[in-house]
Amino acid sequence: MNTRVPPQRLIATEDDVTPMVLAAMDQTTDPRFKEIITSLVRHLHAFIQEVRPTEEEYERGLQILNAIGQQTDDTHNEAVLICDVLGASTLIDLINNDGMQGETMSALLGPFYRGNAPHCGHGESIARSSTSGDPLILKGRVLDVNGAPIAGAKLDVWQASPDGLYENQDREQDDFNLRGLFTTNKDGEYLIRTTKPAGYPVPVHTTTGALLRAQNRTPMRPAHVHFIVSAPEHKTLVTQIFSDTDEAMISDVVFGAKEQIAGDLQRHDTPMADYPDQVPPFYTCTYDFILKPGVPTFPEPPIKGKVS
Ligand code: BEZ
Ligand code: FE
Repeated sequence: MNTRVPPQRLIATEDDVTPMVLAAMDQTTDPRFKEIITSLVRHLHAFIQEVRPTEEEYERGLQILNAIGQQTDDTHNEAVLICDVLGASTLIDLINNDGMQGETMSALLGPFYRGNAPHCGHGESIARSSTSGDPLILKGRVLDVNGAPIAGAKLDVWQASPDGLYENQDREQDDFNLRGLFTTNKDGEYLIRTTKPAGYPVPVHTTTGALLRAQNRTPMRPAHVHFIVSAPEHKTLVTQIFSDTDEAMISDVVFGAKEQIAGDLQRHDTPMADYPDQVPPFYTCTYDFILKPGVPTFPEPPIKGKVS
């Protein structure tokens, strides 16, 4: 029996490839998976037809994809990092967390979250190692979208040191330095004593670093403090409060900085009645977090060990 496909159904030119591939996928059962994969094929083929790579360029592209996998282990996720600097992570974040119900906007979890931070009392300091940085007092409330305070909300907080290093990147810092889990009081208030963080570069020893160098881009993130704010019956908020200049926020290598989550840091060069024990100079920052109704989620720490 002759099983040859009639000639008009075989690929003859480059324009025949996309319809042929889409037809081959037409029996995909799961509708969402079908939507995703057919869109991927259409955009991938359009990209290839626009860029028209040489065979050497295609080979190089495949080597880069393989390297991203090979560079990922328990301590480093190269796939996430390259998506961060390509803006894909922030795009995904904004599609899924658009802030349209009046809630605080989210920002990337980042690779330095550890989970299991020590429980802290109201006003406790998370600076467990001595640092040369300026003291910072973070305070405010956790509110619902109607402005009602949420008592018993949890704030899981972590940040880089004044040297721009997270504790799990730095042998000099004590375990869980600059990490803590706070709980709002009956009025929905939180109070955190810490040290003013510094900006820092994302890891640049792998493929992502080579990309940034080829693009003459800064590897720097603006200084920020990470928060995961959660409460029963509310969507868990993963965000960052920024404490840097407008320029540093605009050039954030992972495009995570947003106006709505820029902290307003006030410098105090004389003692303050509210904090009589706090020796100047020091900074304060007041920020109210707003949670929208939803189901709490608990992000898994993205890495298991020390990060690289
Ligand atoms: C961070 O904020 O910790 C971070 C986010 C994305 C890439 C690298 C670091
Ligand atoms: Fe960070």
